[in-house]
Amino acid sequence: MTRYYLRRYRDATRMNHWFVAIMFFAAALSGLAFFHPSLFFLTNLFGGGPWTRILHPFMGLLMVLGFVFLFFTMWRENILDKGDREWIANAPKMLKGDKSGMPPVGKYNAGQKLVFWAFGISLLLLLVTGFMFWSPWFVGFFPILVRRIAVVVHAASAVVLILSVITHIYAAIWVKGTLRAMTRGTVTEGWAKLNHPLWHRKMTRGE
Ligand code: HEM
Repeated sequence: MTRYYLRRYRDATRMNHWFVAIMFFAAALSGLAFFHPSLFFLTNLFGGGPWTRILHPFMGLLMVLGFVFLFFTMWRENILDKGDREWIANAPKMLKGDKSGMPPVGKYNAGQKLVFWAFGISLLLLLVTGFMFWSPWFVGFFPILVRRIAVVVHAASAVVLILSVITHIYAAIWVKGTLRAMTRGTVTEGWAKLNHPLWHRKMTRGE
């Protein structure tokens, strides 16, 4: 049987995505090292405590910068619409294995879209609050109370981002055939018909 493939991502988008993913792991692991003393051993990955402290803000900045490009490539396709409400309402049943109530979806389902916006909002908050206590460069511009609040918001946003990435990776592995969208740039027609029928129709013009 001949297998047909549909292009889902351009090479540039895939390189952009993996740059963000690598920078995410670097920023997250170096950040977690400062979150609690029991995680301080993670500084060994970055050349010790002082180097981790120096590198963390730069790695975070590169992650956000990379995501800005990804964001402007994809934001339109991630706008939630009426069909997404139905998808969200039926999601608990789907997680138990009953897919009967799920509406047909386009390029992304509502779960992917929500994760996309969680990435965007948490990264924006991490960026803004991170600058507020980046010592010694910008720390002097903000009063101590503002910096204290910034630290808490920074940590909370990091938790949201990490949980969102875990959900994202779990879904990418769980839905069989998805990973190749970001490794090869293509998906099988069967995958598209099953998981994103409206996108499949658009790509093949119903043929
Ligand atoms: C090991 C880590 C990761 C893996 C295995 C992974 C895998 C994937 C896969 C397979 C897709 C294609 C999904 C589809 O087309 O339906 C995708 C899309 C995407 N990924 Fe990742 N990813 C990882 C990390 C990240 C990180 C850290 C971010 C950002 C913080 C990210 C942001 C995105 C975005 C924005 C999309 C486009 C889909 C959408 O807008 O919902 N990924 N990823």
